[in-house]
Amino acid sequence: MTEIKKDIYWVGDIDWELRNFHGYSTPTGSTYNAYLIVDEKPTLIDTVKHYGFDEMASRIKAVIDPSKIEYIISNHTEMDHSGCIEKMLELCPKAEVVCSLAGEKGLKRHFKKDWKFKVVNTGDELKIGRRILKFFLMPMVHWPDSMATYSPDDSILFPNDAFGQHHASSERYVHEVGADIVFEAAAKYYANIVMPYGAQVLKVLEALKSLDIKMICPSHGLIWKKQENIKKILQLYKKWANYESDNRAVIIYDTMWHSTEKIAFELGDLLDREGIPVVKLSLKTSDFSDAITEVMRSKVVLLGSAILNNQILPSMGGFLTYLKGLKPKNRFALSFGSYGWAKIGFKELEEGLKEAGMQIIEDGIYMQFVPDESDLEGLKGVVSKIKQLISG
Ligand code: FEO
Repeated sequence: MTEIKKDIYWVGDIDWELRNFHGYSTPTGSTYNAYLIVDEKPTLIDTVKHYGFDEMASRIKAVIDPSKIEYIISNHTEMDHSGCIEKMLELCPKAEVVCSLAGEKGLKRHFKKDWKFKVVNTGDELKIGRRILKFFLMPMVHWPDSMATYSPDDSILFPNDAFGQHHASSERYVHEVGADIVFEAAAKYYANIVMPYGAQVLKVLEALKSLDIKMICPSHGLIWKKQENIKKILQLYKKWANYESDNRAVIIYDTMWHSTEKIAFELGDLLDREGIPVVKLSLKTSDFSDAITEVMRSKVVLLGSAILNNQILPSMGGFLTYLKGLKPKNRFALSFGSYGWAKIGFKELEEGLKEAGMQIIEDGIYMQFVPDESDLEGLKGVVSKIKQLISG
């Protein structure tokens, strides 16, 4: 464990082996962060994923006798944070479970147990001794039950998933790992977990303005402690919640006999020649979670697929499902691809982009079998449009 402030300990679990978090690639693993506040009424903020119980329990036991814990705060019901509440209550059977009303309902649905619940609302306070903890409901950031706990005495915010990152590390603070690495991980986390809830995030950011925040302790990854990093992550959340993007493009495609790939590469080269930063991702080798992170960054999104059995490729079908769920707004999009004997099957691609909330630049660009030089020459027109969109 690490004492992050006097009498406040990180007692979480480091998941070094994790490579996939419900479909989201986690190349370095992740952490499930739980925090123990030792006051007159010792309080545990969140727990960890079920298989991290022993690690969490041993960290708690290194600080206090767990039977002394009087409150377990469950900021969020999802099982990577609440998965050990039942086992924890075996160690501290008198403890009350503090959560939102939606949290109580969710925990009852998961555990089928009627624990001693203490339901809190925004503005409610909980005196745990010298400290009085405050609660802020954060519905849909990113579940209906989500809430943050704040300790005014310590100026520490415990916002659960918000401001988190999937990154396993023996270090506990952002600045120890390197801010660039952590901001990158935080962007991927936002794109894959929080992006659909921009309006709700903006409300939370507004509520946080009234707080003195010297540390943000999320439920995954590293703790934000340096003021410059806290300021920057709050600014980035505002930018992402407003669906702002950078003047860049991303090309996401899958190909069958390299024809769609040819179009993708030509588009990439033309954009590059115009000085527009561009990333090309093949769905054969890139994970959806990395592709969506590039979509969040980019003002222009180009999606290409070959046609198989009159349909777009299954990889692109899956990516569209993912994209429609995460709904990145304020992006311009174009579909492209190669087809065989009939130009059919692209409707799903076009409809998918619209359903994801994208503004279509122009009709999709589809080429029969293998594109020739004049076909590829024709791409200059749309690249010129993209340049105007990006400079505008
Ligand atoms: Fe990290 Fe929504 O759980």
